[in-house]
Amino acid sequence: MRSGIRLATIVTVATLSVAAFAGCGTGRGTGTTSTTSNPPSSSASSAASTTTTSAAGGFAANAMIGVSLPWLGTQNWQEGQTMFADQLKAAGFTPNVQAADNTVQTQQQQITAMIQAGAKVIVIGPVDGAQLGTIVDQAKAADIYIIGYDRMIQNTPNVDAVVQFGSVKTGELQGQSLLDGLAAKKGPGPYNIELFGGGPTDPNAPNFFTGAMKVLQPKIDDGTLVVVSGQKDFPTVATQDWDNQKAQARMDTLLSGFYGGGKKIDGVLAPNDGIARAIMTSCEDAGQPVPVVDGLDAEDASVTLVWQGKQWSTTYKPTDKLVAQTITLIKALQAGQPLPAPTEKDNNGVKDVAVYAQDPVIVTQANAKEVFKNDPARLKLLT
Ligand code: BGC
Repeated sequence: MRSGIRLATIVTVATLSVAAFAGCGTGRGTGTTSTTSNPPSSSASSAASTTTTSAAGGFAANAMIGVSLPWLGTQNWQEGQTMFADQLKAAGFTPNVQAADNTVQTQQQQITAMIQAGAKVIVIGPVDGAQLGTIVDQAKAADIYIIGYDRMIQNTPNVDAVVQFGSVKTGELQGQSLLDGLAAKKGPGPYNIELFGGGPTDPNAPNFFTGAMKVLQPKIDDGTLVVVSGQKDFPTVATQDWDNQKAQARMDTLLSGFYGGGKKIDGVLAPNDGIARAIMTSCEDAGQPVPVVDGLDAEDASVTLVWQGKQWSTTYKPTDKLVAQTITLIKALQAGQPLPAPTEKDNNGVKDVAVYAQDPVIVTQANAKEVFKNDPARLKLLT
């Protein structure tokens, strides 16, 4: 619905200093679009309407900050929703946190509303990394900073920074953990395995798979791993919408189609915890022994299964650190300061984007207590 987006309701658009972005080489446009027809209608409008821009750049300390999450279907996004609301408020800002139910159009509408309400920064975890170009252009025309959160925003020059866990690195850890688990739990190979990917519109998903295959492909080539179905390319193994039920249905089909006559499955590459649990349920229903399965997110349900020795591993990417990093960037922007040096740059199709990367950590039964020693909620699950 890009064509349906109206800019006419943008209220008082401030000009931000190009110098504010000197640190990451992404100067804002010179633009001062200032078109007012309707008053802002959002509940956050009072903060927005009192927002001013200082001569040195930056914006009001109580400015509205939009956060557009893709959905709340996995624990990391639920945690993000709460933590952004709490931590932005604690930092003095006016949070406007929305989740888009995995629907591109809903996300576009929510971001449009944030632009119209006068947000100074919009933090976005895109439903579809490639479908936000137009809307992000509109945000830029209104001198709004755009920060990608956990997922890259693709094919636009108008993303200022991305805060995330290295997604190829995450996949490498998952692939390595699958190999380690097979060696630990299933004796000497060769091992029968299957591969699953995440939602294909999420830019992380192909990267997770690429990272995992960097580790697994040589072992497929030398015969240590046998992908019994032969399904090895990302489009075939991807799970539409990260939908656990779709993953379970695919696993059911794989087991009935390729694992007849007592053939055992030893391991499965799972892109996240929800899909890992769906895979284990499918195997259980088919009377298979539990395969070695990795995961992602350290969701409560999977931390429990890892601790019980059923799910081999999960990957911890602490949401509180990611949110805190995002707010550090927002504070710099608010003060009109350059952003700190990024950890790396990642090309989004048209631009090398400043990426602030955090390290994901593999969690198994052996290291869970150590990994979660500063995360009381998860530590409590290990009893
Ligand atoms: C996130 C994962 C999450 C998945 C599905 C990915 O972009 O990095 O943490 O499990 O989306 O919500």
